Amino acid sequence: MKKVGVALLGLGTVGGGTYRILKKMREDIAKTDGVDIEVMHILEKDMSKVEALGIDPSIVSCDINNVINNPEISIVAEFFGGIEPARSFLMASLKAGKSIVTANKELFSKHWSDLEECAKIGNAGLYFEASCVGGVPVIRALQASMQGNRIQSIMGIVNGTTNYILTKMADEGLDYADVLKEAQRLGYAEANPSADVDGFDSMYKLSILSTLCFHKRVPIDKVYREGISKVSKIDIEFGKQLGYTLKLLAIGKMVDGKIEARVHPAFILDSNPLASVKGSFNAVLIDGDNVGDIMLYGRGAGDLPTGSAIVSDIVYAACQTEHKLSCFDNNLSAIKDSDFSTDFECEYYVRMTVEDKAGVLAKIASTLGKYDVSINTLQQTANDGAASIIFMIHKTKESNINKALAEIKSLNEVDSVDALIRVL
Ligand code: NDP
Ligand code: HSE
Repeated sequence: MKKVGVALLGLGTVGGGTYRILKKMREDIAKTDGVDIEVMHILEKDMSKVEALGIDPSIVSCDINNVINNPEISIVAEFFGGIEPARSFLMASLKAGKSIVTANKELFSKHWSDLEECAKIGNAGLYFEASCVGGVPVIRALQASMQGNRIQSIMGIVNGTTNYILTKMADEGLDYADVLKEAQRLGYAEANPSADVDGFDSMYKLSILSTLCFHKRVPIDKVYREGISKVSKIDIEFGKQLGYTLKLLAIGKMVDGKIEARVHPAFILDSNPLASVKGSFNAVLIDGDNVGDIMLYGRGAGDLPTGSAIVSDIVYAACQTEHKLSCFDNNLSAIKDSDFSTDFECEYYVRMTVEDKAGVLAKIASTLGKYDVSINTLQQTANDGAASIIFMIHKTKESNINKALAEIKSLNEVDSVDALIRVL
């Protein structure tokens, strides 16, 4: 039987989950795939994590040379997170002919080209299933099961932490900060939770996923990003009354030959299949021109779900005789602004607080009209001289609504524009 040596970089949430699965499944994998996967070295600083998993400390160090210089190790799986030292360690591993498996979407979305260059030098493979949508095999589906299609769009919930927070806020009326703490305790959140709540994590994932969908590198600076930190319970409640659920969505679309990539909170109809994706679960809807819609659903974060994706990549890499790299130009310098569309169209929910007196609504409506922004419905509640107005706005360009709201904010009678949420 072919023996394959693996190194694990990091023994935190994902590294720990991966180790446990590899240990439990070693014999099964040997039977089903004909490869005996052995963890030969681990890089980890915190020896309490090593002890908790009953690992022989003699295979643990903080020195990457113990991995690079071991000819028996052919696969390096990384779960340090962040850019350095993960980037240097993976580049050195690839150049030494070792394939890499990573869960690190930040690193992968920013340095895919560099890693691929090193993979070519070392004749090694790059595997990154766990970088997007946790345990859900979306990368393999895009790379190996959708060739009979031109993909029109991908839309999904790709961050477990924010979906967990929004679900608890909507279903249990809990406060944002308390739910975030719970997501951290459960091991869903990134080391710096701003990566989740400010939409960076979804942006990294969408950059990778839309690149695979459209066979063109979509760098992170072409992804519009807005997180959930400004979302209030009030708007979640108003949305509910109108038949909407609030989700942080990642959307990649081909529109008139240009790629549109965006991450932002959005109201979706309660009947949309994504509305029933709750807690740390994730889902992506992929629209192929021949197959139509496909929906992939499962756990988007956590030790064992992510470990499951890592182990599948390790076994896949171990079984390849030749590693396939990107079929598109992966060079960031080849990217042209004209390949991307930035002024997208949406319907909107707008909530503002204004003075409750004659003529105010007329001024607001006239300003919206000036920028070709058309009101679908409106709802007003007045109290003590102030009125809260919710507008549902017909489909319009992002630039139009932004200009209109900037002017509305400057009206003396308008206290604040409290929320602007896209509606799908
Ligand atoms: P953790 O913080 O739980 O684990 C990282 C581990 O790596 C820690 O034990 C850390 O030790 C160790 N480490 C970091 N740098 C070094 C170093 N230079 N030398 C030795 N040990 C080091 O993170 P996660 O497991 O949650 O995440 C890891 C990666 O996986 C990230 O890229 C994340 O985005 C990604 N990911 C996470 C998912 C999740 O559900 N958590 C899901 C999908 C992807 P110490 O703590 O002592 O610094
Ligand atoms: N922090 C990420 C999330 C981990 O919550 O989805 C999985 O990538």
